[in-house]
Amino acid sequence: PIGAMPGVVQHTIESLVAEAHRCLDAGLGGIMLFGVPLAKDPEGSGADDPEGILNVATRAVVDAVGDRLVVMTDLCLDEFTSHGHCGVLDAAGRVDNDATLQRYAAMGLAQAHAGAHVLGLSGMMDGQVGHVRAALDAEGFQDVVILAYTAKYTSGLYGPFREAVASSLVGDRAAYQQDPANATEALRELAQDLAEGADIVMVKPAGPHLDIVAAVAAASPVPVAAYQISGEYSQIIAAADRGWIDRDRVMLESLIGIRRAGAQLILTYFALDAAALL
Ligand code: PBG
Repeated sequence: PIGAMPGVVQHTIESLVAEAHRCLDAGLGGIMLFGVPLAKDPEGSGADDPEGILNVATRAVVDAVGDRLVVMTDLCLDEFTSHGHCGVLDAAGRVDNDATLQRYAAMGLAQAHAGAHVLGLSGMMDGQVGHVRAALDAEGFQDVVILAYTAKYTSGLYGPFREAVASSLVGDRAAYQQDPANATEALRELAQDLAEGADIVMVKPAGPHLDIVAAVAAASPVPVAAYQISGEYSQIIAAADRGWIDRDRVMLESLIGIRRAGAQLILTYFALDAAALL
């Protein structure tokens, strides 16, 4: 169980495969997997190790559900690095954008080999879409889809997720995630991700940035996704647990708002609950 996300748990391989079957039976469009390794190191070497937990889990899920459920993987180093940053660090302790791109390419290939259908590039390094796309194409993975985190804002709402993945981060990600006060950068990021070959573009967090979802939806020639993140989930659960709001009603209202803003795909921890009501 994840304390700050009641109802959400870390899985074993066995329970994950059972959950994937539940998602399939519920009619969900897809699932996204994140890995929580036992050991971390500065390079995040568990990320591209074929025996790393995320790659092992991906193989197990794809073996079980095949193409009947879209299986997406988080492509970022933060769960695997001992310092908790989304990339590798330079000698001064800063995130090294270009050295990180090499690690993302290796991670993307490991995920494609494991059978992932969609790679969720969430690390926010400049050039990540083009770099991973080129690596995939060079190894014959033209059909693997890139879901680009196009506008990913620095947010206090990631807090519960960092507990969920046992993050070791000290400090913040403000050097590579976006400033919530900046709207125009999202459209520059959109143009860049499209030019590099993004197949789906995503805005995150969803709820506080619905204007950005709408702006990206108006400008994007590819499908637009929005991620209702951990803190958005936990806020609703916490207030409902106190009896202050109606859980199901507020859950659906939050999802409808994201859909109305223009998202064609929604990533949400409420997926199974919402599917039961729709
Ligand atoms: C990075 C990543 C994060 C989330 C998804 N991918 C964490 C972060 O930026 O700190 C957050 C998801 C959530 O809060 O629900 N691997």
